[in-house]
Parts: sequence; C-alpha cells; structure tokens
Amino acid sequence: MQGFVVYLLLLMGSIFELSVVKCARSKGSDSGTSTTFDVTKFGAIGNGKTDDAKAFTSAWEAACNKGLGTSKITVPSGKTFLVSAIKFAGPCKSRSITFEILGTIVAVPKQAWGKGGGDGDAWILFHQVQGLSVVGNGKGVFDGQGASWWPRERKNDSPTALRFSHCDNLSVSGLKHMNSQKNHISINGCNHANISNLHITAPGTSPNTDGIDISSSTNLSIQDCVMATGDDCIAINGGTSGVKISRITCGPGHGISIGSLGKNGKHEEVERILVENCTFIKTQNGVRIKSWQDGAVKVSGVKYIGVRGTTVAKDATIDLKCSKTVPCTDIEFSNINIKSVGGHADSAKAKCTNAQGTARSCTPPIHCVKT
Ligand SMILES: *[C@@H]1O[C@H](CO)[C@@H](O)[C@H](O)[C@H]1NC(C)=O
Ligand SMILES: *[C@@H]1O[C@H](CO)[C@@H](O)[C@H](O)[C@H]1NC(C)=O
Ligand SMILES: *[C@@H]1O[C@H](CO)[C@@H](O)[C@H](O)[C@H]1NC(C)=O
Ligand SMILES: *[C@@H]1O[C@H](CO)[C@@H](O)[C@H](O)[C@H]1NC(C)=O
Repeated sequence: MQGFVVYLLLLMGSIFELSVVKCARSKGSDSGTSTTFDVTKFGAIGNGKTDDAKAFTSAWEAACNKGLGTSKITVPSGKTFLVSAIKFAGPCKSRSITFEILGTIVAVPKQAWGKGGGDGDAWILFHQVQGLSVVGNGKGVFDGQGASWWPRERKNDSPTALRFSHCDNLSVSGLKHMNSQKNHISINGCNHANISNLHITAPGTSPNTDGIDISSSTNLSIQDCVMATGDDCIAINGGTSGVKISRITCGPGHGISIGSLGKNGKHEEVERILVENCTFIKTQNGVRIKSWQDGAVKVSGVKYIGVRGTTVAKDATIDLKCSKTVPCTDIEFSNINIKSVGGHADSAKAKCTNAQGTARSCTPPIHCVKT
C-alpha cells in the first residue's frame, strides 16, 4: 500500500511531494498532498481506561507541523478513547487540518481532572487553527461525562467540553455530543464557521449545558442540528455578527438566545442574526434577546415572521420588555400564530414595554407595539 502511494507521488514528480513521502515513512500515511495521522499510531490505546491525551497531542503536533498541503488526524471507529484536558494549538504549518472522529472520545471524570494540558476552562481546546474541520461522518461521539460535575455547577467552574478559540474557516459536522461538563461547544473569536449535523444531548435537568455558545465571532452558519440539553440550544453573545441558524430542532431547554448583553454597563453589539426554519419542542422560550437594564442596550430591526406553535405560558406568550430609557425600535411581527394549550385557554397574549414597530396577521393580536 505504502509502495503504491510512493509510486504515484514519484509520477507526480515534484520535490514537495517527495518530502511528503519522507514524512509518511514515520507515522503518517499519504494520499496525494494530504497526510493522515492515526492516533493509534501515536500510542493511543482506545480501551476507555488509559488516558490517551498524550497520544492525541503527539498526533496533533505531527499533523500541525507537517507543512504545506493538508493534514488529517483520524480517531478510528470501534474504540473508546479516554482523554483528559487537551489543547490543540496552532498556528499550524499545514494549510488545513481535518480532525476525523469515527470512534468515541470520553472525558476523564471530575475526580481525575487537573493534570491535563488544557487551559483549565475547556476539556478540548482548539486555539488559533486556521482551516480546521472536525468531522464525525455521523459516527464520532464526544462524551463529557458531565454527571460528575453537575452537582457543583453553581460554582460555575466546570469546563466547556469543546472550545474553538480564534479558529478562522472552521467547520464542524456529523458528530454526536453528549453530557458536557458545562456548555457543549463554545466558539470564540472565529471568523467563518460552518456547523452542521450535530446531535447534542444532555438530561433536561443538567445545569448550564448549553448546546453552542458564540462570542466575538463573524459569519457563521449553523444548520441541521438536534439540540436537547435542558439549557440554551444556541446562545449568541457580544461582538458577534452574521449568524445564520437554520433547521435546528431545539428542546427541551431554553431555546435560542441572544445575550445576556450589557452586564455591568458593558457596551456589546450583536447584529445580523437569522433564525430560520427551526423547531422548538418543550422550550421555556423560543427566540429571546436578553439584556441588562444598566447596559442601555438598544434593540432594533428585529423581525419575527411566520412563527407558529403552542404555549402553556400562564402569562405572556410574546413579551417585549424593552429598556425604560431606550425603546426597542423597528420591531416587526407578521404571520404569528400561537395558541394556548393545557388549561390556560385564553392565556396567549402579548405584552410590551416601550416597544415600537409593526404587527400584522398575529394571533394573539399584538396591539402593544407602537408605530
Ligand atoms: C478562509 O477561506 C477564505 C475563502 O475560502 C480564504 O480566502 C481565506 O484566506 C481563508 N482564511 C484563512 C485564515 O484561512
Ligand atoms: C456548510 O456545510 C454543509 C454540510 O457540509 C454544506 O452543505 C453547506 O453548503 C456549507 N455551508 C457553507 C455556507 O459553506
Ligand atoms: C462577513 O460577511 C459580511 C457580509 O457578507 C461581509 O461584508 C464581511 O466582510 C464578512 N466578515 C468577515 C470577517 O469576513
Ligand atoms: C426554509 O423553509 C422554506 C419553506 O419550506 C424554504 O423555502 C427555505 O429555503 C428554507 N430555508 C432554509 C435556510 O432552510
């Protein structure tokens, strides 16, 4: 097999390809300009008991430092890899890196935490890696073993399961992700990300196990995911612009949220957020925007179009609590149809404080927005 690959490369004949072959003789295997690094070739055992973090780090370093071309790290199927906190750091020499997960990666439980190479607030951290794709092909699993952390969650020192920090041109797809210690995925300071086909689950009662938290990032798209974690499916925080969210099935949990923004009077901006064709099942909210009164947060240009469903809310179904000092402006409602179910027959109603905009074809009627 190796010989065959070398032959092909020699035919192609460039000096650059030959240097790739040298690399392949050690631990990677080549196909064209892409080299594959299998974590089991770097000592990962995958018996679910031995900490394989070191082997993962070695595979990462080999892939990251390969230079030119693209690198692929593969975590093979049929095995469970126990890993402690781990940091995959760039910048890398490779033009792009694919991290393929076909097996299961489980976190060490809380009692065994603290000796890893992560940055303390994440179980698995990718930092400053450009052109990274984390792909599971519908097979790969992350299991954060969060149950060992949840009782302590009020202290809020549990780690994020999977954090992407300053990774431009990121893609994450085809993974199952369960029982994170705190939030499942956080995306911070990343431009251009495409997140798709994730299946994120945790028990409804697990604390702060958000699906995806986003901050300080630009131009992301998130689609075709199922998120059932008991908390926010997606939370969008300050410094974020251009997020397209579509075909997400969300719940049970809190829904999709923007904010909280403006805590402690902080200036924060979020803009160009589109939530389209999403389904919310047993969520506390659908889409909400949370802000702090003392941050003087200005909300404008929000459109709710074609929202339909049922509510068991006893009070308000649509609740616009705008700042008393800065009104919400240019709020548009159209084709809303939300019915009460479950014994509160006339409970679907709209309430507003200081909201300006328009409403048309809405059930319940939204008379409280002022033009
Ligand atoms: C990201 O991708 C775009 C378009 O493919 C490319 O122009 C840009 O150079 C890439 N940026 C990085 C940092 O890789
Ligand atoms: C994101 O990834 C999905 C699945 O791989 C693909 O179908 C879609 O075209 C991508 N979107 C963008 C904006 O790149
Ligand atoms: C994000 O997309 C917008 C609109 O397409 C574009 O103007 C902007 O330059 C993009 N931002 C980055 C950081 O690529
Ligand atoms: C949303 O659904 C509508 C109606 O089925 C469809 O036309 C549109 O392309 C969908 N958009 C996305 C982003 O899924």
